[in-house]
Amino acid sequence: MSERSSEGPPGVPGTDAAIRTVGLSKRYGHTIALDGLDLEVPRGEVFGFLGPNGAGKTTAVKLLLGLAYPASGQGWLLGAPLGDRRARLHVGYLPELFRYQPWLTAREVLGLHCRLAALDRARWAEAVDSALAAVGLADRGDDRVGGFSKGMQQRLGLGVALLGPPDLVILDEPTSALDPVGRQDVRRIIRELRDRGTTVFLNSHLLTEVERVCDRVAVVDHGRVVATGTLPELLGGSTVALRATGLSADTIAGLGRFGRVRLDGDRLEVEGIAPDEVPDLVAEVVRLGARVHAVEPLQQTLEDRFLALVGREPAA
Ligand SMILES: Nc1ncnc2c1ncn2[C@@H]1O[C@H](COP(=O)(O)OP(=O)(O)OP(=O)(O)O)[C@@H](O)[C@H]1O
Ligand SMILES: [Mg+2]
Repeated sequence: MSERSSEGPPGVPGTDAAIRTVGLSKRYGHTIALDGLDLEVPRGEVFGFLGPNGAGKTTAVKLLLGLAYPASGQGWLLGAPLGDRRARLHVGYLPELFRYQPWLTAREVLGLHCRLAALDRARWAEAVDSALAAVGLADRGDDRVGGFSKGMQQRLGLGVALLGPPDLVILDEPTSALDPVGRQDVRRIIRELRDRGTTVFLNSHLLTEVERVCDRVAVVDHGRVVATGTLPELLGGSTVALRATGLSADTIAGLGRFGRVRLDGDRLEVEGIAPDEVPDLVAEVVRLGARVHAVEPLQQTLEDRFLALVGREPAA
């Protein structure tokens, strides 16, 4: 087994991104799990890969890591073609479903992965201690994982993904078994990784998780990216509601330039308005002779947007 080199895998011209895929496809029998996936994740970004159950998130991760092979398309991880073993040494991975050997202690599991990651032996003890501390298992290091709760196993899996330290960390639903404290720990760990310049690729169907930590998000459905961007970009314009007296259907006719307008008694809603146009809207409403009693922003939630993007409109 070769030692890890500190300079990282060899770069391929034009593929300096942490992750890049072009038209990646995968079939399982008649199921199209991935249908021409195009992704670009720059180095240092915390990237959320968001989609409903069965959208193809885990399949994409397996292809990225060379654990499954694409039917067509190409991809690069840390500048190396998918499946490159040297690039893999610089990637930390928390799988979706995993079981460690129950007879091993947490410390032994981490030691085994230090070996698999080809870490310099002199660094194992320190790497294991810092992984245990990072995931809140410092006092359980010598316990066998067979006696660990589901959440403790997931914490250990996250600890394994932090060994190295890696340049890219891929987390497939990292908080599925965790309590609120564990979820908060994962967010803290992801922010610490970002502060160190590590790229994080986070698979999730939990919108709040993605909302709180990701710089950019791709929404995937039926094996395809249906939207990508920062959260403000994905959420588009916002909706604002005014409580105003003295307006009528006739007087609001000219407000259409701000967005889609709806008047219901004293309540005026303008959907899709750019945030910096709200003061102009209020000034215009006053100019029309109305009295404004309240202005309330109604942010479309990521959940509503997500449901709209994957074709399941939110319930009213
Ligand atoms: N090994 C497999 N054999 C057969 N079909 C598979 C296999 N792996 C995935 N699939 C199918 O591919 C599609 C995508 O599955 P995938 O596990 O990638 O979804 P996912 O987005 O990770 O979903 P979840 O949120 O439930 O984890 C599904 O229709 C699934 O049934
Ligand atoms: Mg999955």
